[in-house]
Amino acid sequence: MSAIVIDGKAISLKVREEVKRRAGKLEPRGIVPCLAVILVGEDPASLSYVTAKEKALAEAEMASRDYRLAASTGEDELLALIGRLNADEQVHGILVQLPLPSHISEERVITAIDPRKDVDGFHPVSVGNMVLGRPGFLPCTPHGVLVLLRELRIPTAGAHAVVLGRSNIVGKPLANLLSRRDVNATVTICHTGTKELPSITRQGDILIAAAGRAGLVTADMVKEGAAVIDVGVNRVADSGAKKGYRLRGDVDYGPVAEKAAWITPVPGGVGPMTIAMLLQNVVEAAERFAGGRPC
Ligand code: GUN
Repeated sequence: MSAIVIDGKAISLKVREEVKRRAGKLEPRGIVPCLAVILVGEDPASLSYVTAKEKALAEAEMASRDYRLAASTGEDELLALIGRLNADEQVHGILVQLPLPSHISEERVITAIDPRKDVDGFHPVSVGNMVLGRPGFLPCTPHGVLVLLRELRIPTAGAHAVVLGRSNIVGKPLANLLSRRDVNATVTICHTGTKELPSITRQGDILIAAAGRAGLVTADMVKEGAAVIDVGVNRVADSGAKKGYRLRGDVDYGPVAEKAAWITPVPGGVGPMTIAMLLQNVVEAAERFAGGRPC
């Protein structure tokens, strides 16, 4: 078998067109959806992510406010900025790019964001709403994965979904969302510490790789005919590449593509969906603000 390659870029552009249309509907009311993007430090991967997010916002005719802070910025200073942005009616969403330098508590920072502006869906209130199935912002990468599965009409009801990875950003929320009634998968969470990992991942009709290790998922770990979703974005040294590195997913792409029925490439799979779902959350935040609807 040779897998259908899931074109995340094309699907993300469809989502972004719809977001742009929704943003345009707010214009007569003088509302331009606006995301404040905070980057602390100069991690090159984080810098490229925030640049891509800001470019996508501009393309959807939405606004961004760019806060680039020195790596030495104190936690109090960052919390004070978040306090000002929470109170700023021109700002509908606040994104603090993670990871933060180790002297800053990510938990305190995330919790300081007004849940109504938590377009990353990381605030404990957002996480609680997600788990309870209440309205609220869904985290962007897991939400993007669900949209890919839906768009490709990959059967999820009754399917066994194996999630490899347990991060707060991807693994945990994705496992939760996949078990929702409208998706109806049976979910197993595993990780790099799981005993006999290949015997678990091989059970997945849907296998989500989100462990953050390049090439971890080899063909022997994949069920024939599975849908393989690769969330990994790993920079691996490549002297032949212009930048000196190339991006590699958590999946050993070539051999796994021979065995799977569907596969996401890296880049061009899940990554563009993360950005599209962020934009969707920003326009949603602005719509709620315009409608005076509670979070
Ligand atoms: N770091 C890696 N992924 C993300 C994300 O989706 N949002 C934020 N804020 N930081 C991240």
